[in-house]
Amino acid sequence: MKQANILITGATGHIGTTLAKQLSAQGVPFRALVRNADNNTQTIAALPGAEIVTGDFNDAGSLANALLGIEKAFLLTNSSEQAEQLQINFVEAAIRSGLPHIVKLSQLHASAASPVRFLRYHAAVEAKIRWSGIPWTFLRPNLFMQGLMGFRDSIVHQGKFFATAGEAPISIVDTRDIAAIAAAALTTAGHEGRVYDITGPQSLTHTQLAAILSDALGKPVQYINVTDEQLLPALLQAGFPAWQAEGLIEDYAHYARGEAAAVSNAVAEVTGKPARDFAGFVKEYAPMFL
Ligand SMILES: NC(=O)c1ccc[n+]([C@@H]2O[C@H](COP(=O)([O-])OP(=O)(O)OC[C@H]3O[C@@H](n4cnc5c(N)ncnc54)[C@H](OP(=O)(O)O)[C@@H]3O)[C@@H](O)[C@H]2O)c1
Repeated sequence: MKQANILITGATGHIGTTLAKQLSAQGVPFRALVRNADNNTQTIAALPGAEIVTGDFNDAGSLANALLGIEKAFLLTNSSEQAEQLQINFVEAAIRSGLPHIVKLSQLHASAASPVRFLRYHAAVEAKIRWSGIPWTFLRPNLFMQGLMGFRDSIVHQGKFFATAGEAPISIVDTRDIAAIAAAALTTAGHEGRVYDITGPQSLTHTQLAAILSDALGKPVQYINVTDEQLLPALLQAGFPAWQAEGLIEDYAHYARGEAAAVSNAVAEVTGKPARDFAGFVKEYAPMFL
């Protein structure tokens, strides 16, 4: 296989690992930036075409090293209080290295004026990238279907899951479709200057998600709508740092206002395949919820 000219950051995470697997399956070599050699790193290192480089968004020298010879980079971190600065560090390293194309994982409705902190930090990074002059592609996905895994324990043990989404429909999306768009943006021409709003094929309320889950699992699963005042301490107790827990409350309020209901055609347009639907997702993931 030829030398990698694609860099995946966030490679040990959810989307990054899925993207690495998809590129490998397509026979595309890639370099994966990882912080340390934990188990997930071994999974990626074992993929045909993978080259591992260690580095940290806090360490400019390691980013310069990771970017050597790279033509396209995928930028992703988790959402934390440091995320904006970490991603800006990467953009600055990319400017210095003369990176020809950056594909940034953002979020649907990223905006500097948003009341949702996650949407503001993504907008700030997008603005920095636009300013940088580096050709870019922004991927703005809606709520991840795989986020349901975060409710796994209560679904398995109580047949319930709890959130503050109200009865608003949300066009939730399978992360494999997000990774497939990223793979296309990194391997095919014509994605520079494009913003892809990435959604699933239909908009569903959490009550509808529960009904589809119940059918697939053959046991009742109920969605319980709770208040912010109930959810926040539960998130803190589950170990989320305050900044992230408060961000999730803001994010869910945005969903509950019905602002994330629109369905886009980006998955089909970019990958040539229809977006995966929730019923299919649940069938595949059912064993995890039993
Ligand atoms: N969840 C949703 O429904 C949703 C919807 C739309 C958009 N998003 C966006 O999706 C993104 C999260 O994607 P994900 O779930 O794939 O993330 P994830 O699984 O949490 O993975 C985060 C990755 O970032 C890496 N990372 C964090 N800090 C780093 C640092 N200082 N240096 C190097 N690497 C670092 C982590 O490496 P380690 O393994 O070393 O920690 C990990 O590989 C966020 O930007 C979020 O806003 C999420």
